[in-house]
Amino acid sequence: MQNDGSPHDAYSSFLVRPSGPIDGTVTISGAKNSVLKLMAATLLAEGAYRIENVPDITDVYTMGELLASMGLTVTHGPGTVDIVCPAECSTVAPYEIVGRIRASIVVLGPLLARFGEATVALPGGDNFGSRPIDMHLRGLEAMGASFETEHGNVIGRVDNLIGAEILLDFPSVGATENLMMAAIRAKGITTIDNVAREPEISDLAEMLNKMGANISGAGTSTITIDGVERLHATDHTVVSDRLESATYLAALASTRGELRLERARAHHMEMLLAKMRSMGMTITPDDDGITAIVPQRLRSVDVSTLPYPGIATDYKPMIVAMLSLADGVGIVTENLYAGRFAYVSELARMGAQIRIDGHHAVVRGCDRLSGAPVKAHDIRAGACLVVAALAADGETLISDAHHIDRGYSQFIEKLTALGIDITRVATDRRRKD
Ligand code: UD1
Repeated sequence: MQNDGSPHDAYSSFLVRPSGPIDGTVTISGAKNSVLKLMAATLLAEGAYRIENVPDITDVYTMGELLASMGLTVTHGPGTVDIVCPAECSTVAPYEIVGRIRASIVVLGPLLARFGEATVALPGGDNFGSRPIDMHLRGLEAMGASFETEHGNVIGRVDNLIGAEILLDFPSVGATENLMMAAIRAKGITTIDNVAREPEISDLAEMLNKMGANISGAGTSTITIDGVERLHATDHTVVSDRLESATYLAALASTRGELRLERARAHHMEMLLAKMRSMGMTITPDDDGITAIVPQRLRSVDVSTLPYPGIATDYKPMIVAMLSLADGVGIVTENLYAGRFAYVSELARMGAQIRIDGHHAVVRGCDRLSGAPVKAHDIRAGACLVVAALAADGETLISDAHHIDRGYSQFIEKLTALGIDITRVATDRRRKD
């Protein structure tokens, strides 16, 4: 790959200068954490699918590459992806692609359901904590599948999936999705208890039902699936990205001003919005989006991450960046991933005062941060550095911006349209990582 600073150059960095106040409108894209699963769902039935409101992010292209490697035809357009699934597909998801995107584990359920076999490389993905798949495998075993692990791959086989009663130890997003996609072709009824309730789960269930599945309860703690013999292709529009919305709200907290988030869905992020209000933000939702105002410095609050409808772990880096600039001390508790504090040492390079104590971060707000060269460790950690940089003196150079490109559609363009001073530059490869 060339080091030319182009959008998909693995070596590009973002150069951010202090900006604001914001006064403008941003249109929120379709959700990364939904579209990747909707794309995997096309493995379930032969035919031509169109997915709309698709974000322009590298994870979508990577998932497209994975499906193409299995024999599907994937065509990307502006805001769309067209996928044609043939009668026969490869059932192998190779490490070369799976290693780049953990979400590719969700091909396991569809492949077993349709072909009775799957060889999926054990996933990589974001650079935080241990991310096992034991709940995915136990649930599929309860439906009759068997697994072995060989050469870094999990190999699954089943003659006929049969409906089962499954209780998840934890409301895992990925396990809920894999089990739901397997169960829709199982013989009989499957009940899955303690499932994840995220809006992206409901979005997937909606698309699967349009394909002929019979799923009820998505969005609650129990999903019931009555298996069907036949499914068919469909079209679907991706739900709005609540994580992208949260990121622009955090950017507003740094710059102050007034921001309209077109297509943001307030009812998908109520706990976070309540927290932001208690920090001093004015947030007004309506049918088409959210309008937010930040007139002055925000107050610190304490925040704990929890499965949906709690405050998502993915919001946390943005919250820590906001608290780094707020008035007072806030304690942020991480309840999902042990190691998800890597970005804190980068924020500390910018003068943030944060102490990590086990799974707590104690954040003492400063008046101003100080621009510095920093590194994006994962998608949301990268975005939080941009948020911090907006209120930092001088320039902040954020390297490894390809992590941010994995999850933020038209990030530079959208921020620039809001008057923010951000550019993509080629990274000096002589710098040591
Ligand atoms: C999804 C999101 C990710 C988000 C996470 C939690 C996508 C592409 N990614 O990830 O952005 O941070 O939900 O909201 O949608 N676990 C197990 N065994 C399993 C499965 C999970 O122990 O079999 C644990 C994980 O280690 C983690 C917790 O359960 O501690 C949550 O994981 P899960 O909800 O499965 O996250 P993902 O689906 O991987």
